[in-house]
Amino acid sequence: MLLPILHYPDKRLRTKASPIEVVNDEIRTLVKNMFETMYDAPGIGLAATQVDHHIRLIVIDTSEDKSQPLCLINPEIIAKDGELEWDEGCLSVPNYYECVTRANHIKVKALNEHGEEFELEAQELLGVCIQHEIDHLDGVLFVDHLSKLKQRRLLEKTRKEKK
Ligand code: NI
Repeated sequence: MLLPILHYPDKRLRTKASPIEVVNDEIRTLVKNMFETMYDAPGIGLAATQVDHHIRLIVIDTSEDKSQPLCLINPEIIAKDGELEWDEGCLSVPNYYECVTRANHIKVKALNEHGEEFELEAQELLGVCIQHEIDHLDGVLFVDHLSKLKQRRLLEKTRKEKK
């Protein structure tokens, strides 16, 4: 089932998501629907926040052929180093791309869709994507990392497009 994606500057995107206590069938159904919604968009990452579910869950697939689906529940960055600049976009901010500075290399801890804990090391596109999606769970958008001037221009552009 495709889920509606919230668009900037919707205030619900600012909600801080709560940890998931039990990974049950209800969560697995949401995971399935989020993958479907992300692939349909199409995008490479989606946080539950973006589909108005305020729980700590993200789905990612940075492959070109939908072959590397990755579900992270209650993800936590436990180590990071280095810096890199990456041109980012977001399904909640359509048709807008800007360069953001992120950690180059991260180590993340999370649960999978079966409730099992795992650790993952990531860099470049995957690392950036994980950092971007975890930001969503904290109510943070990639545009928040930009200058005030760029943010103001984006808001004006968004308002004009709505009219
Ligand atoms: Ni996003």
